[in-house]
Amino acid sequence: MIETRILKNPTAEDFSVAGDLIREGKLVAFPTETVYGLGADGFNAKACDKIFAVKERPADNPLIEHVCSLEMVDRVAREIPLAAEKLFAAFSPGPLTLILKKRPEIPSEVTAGLDTVGVRFPDHDFARAFIKAADTPIAAPSANISGRPSPTTAQAVFEDLHNKIPMIIDGGDCNFGLESTIVDCTSEIPTILRPGAITREMLVEILGEVQIDSALKDSDAVPKAPGMKYRHYAPRAALKLFNQDSLDEVIFTVKNFNRVGLLASSETLEKIPAKISFNYGSRHDLRSIAANLYEGLRFFDDQEVDLIFAEETVETGLGFAIMNRLRKASSNDF
Ligand code: TXA
Ligand code: MG
Repeated sequence: MIETRILKNPTAEDFSVAGDLIREGKLVAFPTETVYGLGADGFNAKACDKIFAVKERPADNPLIEHVCSLEMVDRVAREIPLAAEKLFAAFSPGPLTLILKKRPEIPSEVTAGLDTVGVRFPDHDFARAFIKAADTPIAAPSANISGRPSPTTAQAVFEDLHNKIPMIIDGGDCNFGLESTIVDCTSEIPTILRPGAITREMLVEILGEVQIDSALKDSDAVPKAPGMKYRHYAPRAALKLFNQDSLDEVIFTVKNFNRVGLLASSETLEKIPAKISFNYGSRHDLRSIAANLYEGLRFFDDQEVDLIFAEETVETGLGFAIMNRLRKASSNDF
């Protein structure tokens, strides 16, 4: 058992201790603008193995390498195509991961044997100070036990990983609350593998043309991001999506059954007085819905509910990413 320290208001010295831990091959959880990451030295195969053990993560699911400058991208990628250059210029640092050809020095544990690597330059002062102190790219997945909603607070990381890792850097609430947009830049036309806060519309503006991985449209297709095939973001109770057209069913069920939870907008909650509810924000504020979504799913995990009704959002802009996560949480195939 390892005692887990939570670092609130970290100082320069704290970051250097975190950097030392990484150099010793240990794991440190850290905040980013999307969700918390569970970091290890991105060139240390044994340290990266620990990530898989601690998270109970399938070995075929590769990790993202996090950098603290554009120069550092060259340490992990062997080729930066024009599309990637444009995207880095437009959105870095930011909630975006690019899939690029990997350098041979990156251990195959990180990339799950693929010839490519995910690279991300997070927009968070603590993340950058931490990576800088470690002086190495940091391989990091989200800092949750596999299959649980990603953590958007240090407390959520602690819930999942205490006594398993030595340190959590506390950066408060994550700004976006959904994992980064993943764009594969090795395909002829760049392809969105996972939607996020850098929206399809924003990518099109920079690139002119982007594809969407067929698995994001058709649930029978095999996703190009190995992690997208798992039933991520799975709440303990069954989760059913609803919209304004199916409101009557929700009202009926909430009225007649006790152990039903409602994850919905403030507008909808005004119409349905549910006993167990989580307000994910105004229907008109997708940023707030994204930021609150995983805390909502974790809230219901702690409640004695058998069924959660979750309100759908629009499918455009950030709504595409929110609906992608909600659909996964509601999917019945494991
Ligand atoms: O916002 C984020 O991206 C967060 C923070 C911590 O940076 N990280 C994150 O990591 O969400 P993770 O491991 O939970 O999700 C990474 C996703 C997985 O679906 C994985 O399969 C995919 O990225 N991925 C990683 N490397 C890949 C590669 N070379 N090719 C295709 N997909 C890859
Ligand atoms: Mg994850």
